[in-house]
Amino acid sequence: MIILGIESSCDETAAAVIEDGRRLRSSVVASQVEVHHRYGGVVPELASRKHVEMILPVVLEAQAKAGIQPADIDALAVTQGPGLVGSLLVGFSFAKGYAFGLGIPWVGVNHLEGHIHSAFLDPEPPEFPFVALLVSGGHTALYHVTSFTSAELMGQTRDDAAGEAYDKVAKVMGLGYPGGAVIDRLAAGGDPSRVLFKRPFLDKNGFDFSFSGIKSAVNRFVQSHPDELADLATHIAAGFQEAVVDVLTHKLVAAARARDCNRIALVGGVAANRRLRERVRTDGAANDMFVTIPPLEFCGDNAAMIAAVGYRYLEQGIRGALGDDVYSRNRQ
Ligand code: KG4
Ligand code: ZN
Repeated sequence: MIILGIESSCDETAAAVIEDGRRLRSSVVASQVEVHHRYGGVVPELASRKHVEMILPVVLEAQAKAGIQPADIDALAVTQGPGLVGSLLVGFSFAKGYAFGLGIPWVGVNHLEGHIHSAFLDPEPPEFPFVALLVSGGHTALYHVTSFTSAELMGQTRDDAAGEAYDKVAKVMGLGYPGGAVIDRLAAGGDPSRVLFKRPFLDKNGFDFSFSGIKSAVNRFVQSHPDELADLATHIAAGFQEAVVDVLTHKLVAAARARDCNRIALVGGVAANRRLRERVRTDGAANDMFVTIPPLEFCGDNAAMIAAVGYRYLEQGIRGALGDDVYSRNRQ
């Protein structure tokens, strides 16, 4: 079964072709970083316009790279939410029209489920059940995943998402947008114990997160050390990163233990972070856990993960209807 996946929830226009749920035939991602960079964040109206411009070329490229014609596509899967409504509508409306024109079924997919399913695109996918830590620009959450279509939310952030904290810290340090990857690189050259930040553990035994406090602490430190910022930048980045990674890793392992589960997965845009990948691997191994961290191309927003979810729902006979609409906030 050949599925064309489409993703346009934020600032990436993406299309991918997947065969039988897991075999990747192509994955194309057009990033809008250039468009939003100078505004220091995603501008929704500009994002929608760029999606309109890119959706057809990206889909055509995905088909060409997969070596398929439109007639070879058996079904479509498209992100329905959560995300920016104007962005979502571009991919969603395109998919409806394309499926209608080709006379094939389609299904709307939850973006967060998409990130969880990126774990199944790994060469060594996890078996069920496993605990997944989803860390992205919009969400930070722990799930106990028991099948391809069922996951229990164990905890989530009460304020900022981890990626959002990275982006905001980068902004106050004058490092530009998006900041996650920049801080990742900068932190590699710093000493995480030079500038210490309090670990935001909240309730030691709970699985909720909070990252707005550490973001403010970094801001206060930066404001009160204007002359030393250039010298201390790498250490501030390393100190901030170590605190965030400590909490994320600790809660992931603890959540798996709480469910008597020895399999964990790390997914979402922040799963590209080198220090986080390293810590999840070593802490997972130290606790005899089987660790899945998908390749980088499946961590950030992409359409392969959307097609992977779509396959499971289509298999169950679930279909989208022309009257369906997108949703901005998560619903599950
Ligand atoms: O999953 P994603 O592509 O989009 C959302 O669904 O939000 O995640 C984007 C987030 C941004 O906040 C970005 O700064 C962060 O992932 N990110 C990173 C790294 N690469 C991307 N954060 C830390 N380290 C990285 N290497
Ligand atoms: Zn995402």
